Amino acid sequence: MQQRETVIVLDFGGQYNQLIARRVRECNVYCEIYSYKTDLQVIKEKNPKGIIFTGGPNSVYLENAAACDPEIYTWGVPVLGICYGSQLMMHQLGGKVERAPEREYGKTLVHVNPESKLFQGVNKDTICWMSHNDYISQAAPGFAISAYTDNCPVAAVENAEKGLYAVQFHPEVLHTQEGTKMLHNFVYNVCGCIGDWRMDSFVETTIQALRNKIGDGKVLCALSGGVDSSVAAVMLSKAVGKQLTCVFVDHGLLRKNEAEEVCQVFGPEGNYELNFVCVNARQRFYDKLAGVTEPEKKRKIIGEEFIRVFEEEAKKIGAVDYLVQGTIYPDVVESGVGGESTVIKSHHNVGGLPDYVDFKEIVEPLRDLFKDEVRQAGRELGIPEYLVSRQPFPGPGLAIRIIGDVTPEKIAMVQDADAIWREEIAKAGLDKQVNQYYAALTNMRSVGVMGDERTYDYAIALRAVTTTDFMTAESAEIPWSVLGTVTSRIVNEVKHVNRVLYDCTGKPPATIEFE
Ligand code: XMP
Repeated sequence: MQQRETVIVLDFGGQYNQLIARRVRECNVYCEIYSYKTDLQVIKEKNPKGIIFTGGPNSVYLENAAACDPEIYTWGVPVLGICYGSQLMMHQLGGKVERAPEREYGKTLVHVNPESKLFQGVNKDTICWMSHNDYISQAAPGFAISAYTDNCPVAAVENAEKGLYAVQFHPEVLHTQEGTKMLHNFVYNVCGCIGDWRMDSFVETTIQALRNKIGDGKVLCALSGGVDSSVAAVMLSKAVGKQLTCVFVDHGLLRKNEAEEVCQVFGPEGNYELNFVCVNARQRFYDKLAGVTEPEKKRKIIGEEFIRVFEEEAKKIGAVDYLVQGTIYPDVVESGVGGESTVIKSHHNVGGLPDYVDFKEIVEPLRDLFKDEVRQAGRELGIPEYLVSRQPFPGPGLAIRIIGDVTPEKIAMVQDADAIWREEIAKAGLDKQVNQYYAALTNMRSVGVMGDERTYDYAIALRAVTTTDFMTAESAEIPWSVLGTVTSRIVNEVKHVNRVLYDCTGKPPATIEFE
């Protein structure tokens, strides 16, 4: 296979490493993240068209500050330094970086030189996102200043001949109004990329590669109904058809009608060529969860039981050659293989790998993709939109949206309330603006009055958040009229609910889920 163009993000511990890579990919150029500690030789072997330095938390002049091999500047591949990355480049090449008298933070008017390759087509005065304590007080020899602000004499510098560019602001953040154009300029005008990263060709080449790799081997996939495992399954089905068996464990903790939808799409009535096994394990999970109130214990029980059910099914199938995993690129970066900032999210994995499934190798067809790319790949594969655009849903399912003990009755209540909430959010056209929304069942019971009768029933809590990375989130501003409609529908249509609450808390201090 012909090598695809690659731009490398060298991560100095900034918070936007993945965002930079996503923006570059939006420009149709493939991009990978590596820690600044990665040996330059390894980077060279990737044969990148360009390198982008991220921001970082330290000051370049401190001892032990994150730094890279300065040979990177002379090796002939263009470099764009962002924020800390820009300061590092100046520091290493003989410029001066100092603590600023005042921190520059927020949207800032930047005056750019439109003659610069980086700023082609950008307005002379443009709003950029700044967030820095240190500043470049003097550009390195051979560098020309290509942008400044009222507070910051060097907002961008460049040595065009050597292909070295540095910007103090963050072009990857959408608050920088023309940031995408700048990144586009860097990868096309400076690095000379042609833009060969496209989901249609990715899908096609991956299917071919899977076919070559698997040959006539047998493949097993655990299907959860979520976006990642669905896209991975369809890709495998297109590659090897009936050599693939998908096992769907219905733990009875999915949203309303979701299990039926999965069976419709992947089962014998569906459009795909594969062996589909649906295991109705609802009662097994309900029995295990009976009386359990502690959130982490619920997670553990569900994770373990899931693996046990899956293993039992796998045993019936016998030895297989490959096990499919729906790993995606953020999982790779966050597990510490890719970037610098290691985020531990072990509790988010349903339960690890099964111990007793007889397989030789794991295949991870989505390992290189960001979530929005997985969705795009799903569309290319013709997977129904409602499945492809599904919002994130936790592995332990509704069990962590029912505070306290889980019973089939409570599951039905939360499913019904959640379906109403989702329906009304979609009707109001808010589903694209809000990143995650659901109904939870609190374990609070309170007094109400309905039709002259006293009630003593449950409260449903509605949650809706906006977020880009799910690490921090804000409570979404939902119009009162929508909340009103949902409230009256829920109390009228869902038995044993007499109160509806809206959660106004952000993350932090709360989390997105209730448990
Ligand atoms: P929190 O509640 O930690 O959630 O703010 C952040 C994101 O992760 C999802 N989440 C989970 N996903 N297993 C999962 O697969 C879990 O145990 C789990 N807990 C939270 C949550 O839905 C949100 O998108």
